[in-house]
Amino acid sequence: LQLQINEKGTDKYVLIPVATIGCGKTTVALTLASLYGWGHVQNDDVSSKSGKFRTFSNRISQAFSEHDVVIVDRNNHQFRERQQLFEAMDLMADANGYDMHYIGLDFLPNGPAQKEWEVTLSRVMNRGDNHQTIRNMDRPAVEAIMKGFRGRYQPITVAKEPDSNFELVIDVNCARGSKDNVTAVVSALNDAYDMDLETKPEELNAAFSAALEHKAKIPVG
Ligand code: GTP
Repeated sequence: LQLQINEKGTDKYVLIPVATIGCGKTTVALTLASLYGWGHVQNDDVSSKSGKFRTFSNRISQAFSEHDVVIVDRNNHQFRERQQLFEAMDLMADANGYDMHYIGLDFLPNGPAQKEWEVTLSRVMNRGDNHQTIRNMDRPAVEAIMKGFRGRYQPITVAKEPDSNFELVIDVNCARGSKDNVTAVVSALNDAYDMDLETKPEELNAAFSAALEHKAKIPVG
């Protein structure tokens, strides 16, 4: 698979995770953003309740004005959410003359299986209060939120809308470590688009350690 990159410099690549809580979306995104200077927009950083998606999509547009590759950090675990993103980004692309490349990051290629549950639960428990919204909660409350996402999860189905918009889907099974998943993203992009992304092991290790140490922006008040 070798997809064509155009000569006009209008290509924009968006990495869209499809995941549930604790799959390592932010860790993978922070590592990639640090290694390659890509844009990273976190839905959990949008504190407003009303107009939340509008704010999120405005931030995505802003990120595309500064970067050719942007990671939209949200679970996107339902068809409806993916549809909403594709629609917003298609409009943005029309308005700006961008050629969009939609790339899915499939954190649950086997669905929300037992192993994935154990890995994500243990990570979220270890993370404690270091999260924008999942904090100051007891274990049953956290488990209930996580189970809600698992219950609503709709796997990537490229044979039909909206997931047929994905040009490429990369397997980043959360049961593997996030560092391996960063490497998987880099090799898949190199193979598909001839991006020539380099990763030196020392740089990858440093970026990954920093991502693991990351402190979430906790909303004040
Ligand atoms: P939500 O925003 O809650 O949906 O989570 P997320 O999918 O963005 O996951 P995140 O990157 O926040 O990872 C969850 C926790 O697991 C964090 O404390 C990470 O530091 C940690 N973590 C992520 N990947 C790994 C990994 O490969 N190994 C270890 N040991 N911890 C990891």
